[in-house]
Amino acid sequence: MLVTGGAGFVGSNVVDALVARGDEPVALDDLSSGDRGNLAPGVPLRVADVADEPALFDAVRGEVFDAVVHCAAKTKVVESMEKAALYRRVIVDGTRAVIRLAEERGVRMLVNVSTGGAMYGETPACATEATPARPDSNYGRFKLEAERLVGAARVPAITLRLANVYGKRQRQDLEGGVIAIFLGCWRRGAPLTVFGDGTAQRDYVHVDDVAAAALSALAGRWRGLYNVGTGIATSVNEIVAAMSEVLGPPAGVAHAPPRPVEIQRACLDASRAARDGLWSPAIALRRGLELTAATA
Ligand SMILES: NC(=O)c1ccc[n+]([C@@H]2O[C@H](COP(=O)([O-])OP(=O)(O)OC[C@H]3O[C@@H](n4cnc5c(N)ncnc54)[C@H](O)[C@@H]3O)[C@@H](O)[C@H]2O)c1
Repeated sequence: MLVTGGAGFVGSNVVDALVARGDEPVALDDLSSGDRGNLAPGVPLRVADVADEPALFDAVRGEVFDAVVHCAAKTKVVESMEKAALYRRVIVDGTRAVIRLAEERGVRMLVNVSTGGAMYGETPACATEATPARPDSNYGRFKLEAERLVGAARVPAITLRLANVYGKRQRQDLEGGVIAIFLGCWRRGAPLTVFGDGTAQRDYVHVDDVAAAALSALAGRWRGLYNVGTGIATSVNEIVAAMSEVLGPPAGVAHAPPRPVEIQRACLDASRAARDGLWSPAIALRRGLELTAATA
């Protein structure tokens, strides 16, 4: 099993879940935001840029794997507007190269990790897979392009559109990680900064649930697009309240002006995954926060 982006937040948790069930995954990563230390001892790491196709093929020459979980990506929404060429290269060209590798190996399954949060725009009702994609960032647009390439792959393939993922090893300096950022503040005894009035809502899904979705998808019975979220929109204020129940009161809450182009409500309806027997979330927010506080 090959996990691209395997030294990153989501990828390393997928690697852990594979190891826990007795698989022998190989991680591939360029370590641009990932860290070797995220990998359990004994998990092989191949260092390569997925967008450099010859280097990618070279890095796994002679390697045996029958499936790929593709997590490698640049993931910062705002940065994607400033560095469009880099984001296109890593997300679009990188996914194309990973597909070619999967085809060359004749894998039985390619699991592509994509985004729901950056795909549907405002979702007054939680978005289903039938909701038209309306990405408003380069990150989302390139992810959509990558999904289309995956949809045309000559190997069995599935795309998982993730909601806002949280849990162990999430970095505080990457976007979307409000829980990781707040947890860092709690630990330092620093006040939290809430942008706007704190009513912006997101769908927070625990990384163990995401890893479970990827493992289920590897079984290979499902194709196409699936949302991976909880169907519950939680505001920043509600996150502060829930974290306060787990960690005690914060050192303070400061308010800052709302960030431009901030979506008010992003939520994913994952009932297709549940209906089709692929996956449903098992970790409620309170439990997920407890797990995160205990392990991060
Ligand atoms: N974290 C979230 O809330 C979230 C939400 C929706 C989708 N996703 C998707 O999940 C996947 C993993 O994201 P993450 O949150 O774990 O971020 P991350 O930055 O921790 O993981 C991405 C990994 O890819 C690696 N990488 C980047 N460019 C590479 C390249 N050119 N070649 C090889 N490796 C490269 C990085 O070093 C890193 O280890 C991404 O595809 C992202 O779009 C994440």
